[in-house]
Amino acid sequence: MSDVPNLAVSRRALLVAGAASAVVAAGPADAAEERAPMSDSPPEIPVSLEVNGKQHALLLDTRTTLLDTLREHLHLTGTKKGCDHGQCGACTVIVNGVRINSCLSLAVQHNGDQVTTIEGLGTPDRLHPMQAAFVKHDGYQCGYCTPGQICSAVAVLDEIKRGVPSHVQADLAARPHVTNMELRERMSGNICRCGAYSNIAEAIAEVAGAQA
Ligand code: FES
Ligand code: FES
Repeated sequence: MSDVPNLAVSRRALLVAGAASAVVAAGPADAAEERAPMSDSPPEIPVSLEVNGKQHALLLDTRTTLLDTLREHLHLTGTKKGCDHGQCGACTVIVNGVRINSCLSLAVQHNGDQVTTIEGLGTPDRLHPMQAAFVKHDGYQCGYCTPGQICSAVAVLDEIKRGVPSHVQADLAARPHVTNMELRERMSGNICRCGAYSNIAEAIAEVAGAQA
């Protein structure tokens, strides 16, 4: 006798059993829904942010990231969404003087904070020295990572000035210096798919030299 009919039966039995368990699983959830109907609107909360020197009072879904707040609510699209998972650095902004990945941070965590985006560093007529150095050294190709690279680079030089240690320091208690290794390590969270790294490093080194 062939095995085929038996297989067909057991497949049908499996489907019936699966449907039955789905009904059982849906039962308590349906009952809970009857007891406490879910609200259609997501929870919103007032959030106050100072962005590039301008105060903003917003009412935001509590799940909104700082990145989406900047781009979708304040229309500051200079800050880019690359991976949305904290892996590329395209969304880097400076919050209270420290660089962060804005895709990994909820806006409600930043109530009252001061945020600087690429739009707040300089203007086309008056570029920030780091922006000017990127232009001079051709520190970009497609430019998608560039706002994050520049915000990160500005904050990196500040970190070194404040003595924040990095992984490449032999002595963590010693004051860090601007070296090629330091800059590359500290900028390693900013990925450039175009591979403009050597020009980016030259641009940052020039600004660091000018500030020394
Ligand atoms: Fe935030 Fe990539 S978009 S790290
Ligand atoms: Fe294209 Fe960096 S310039 S990703």
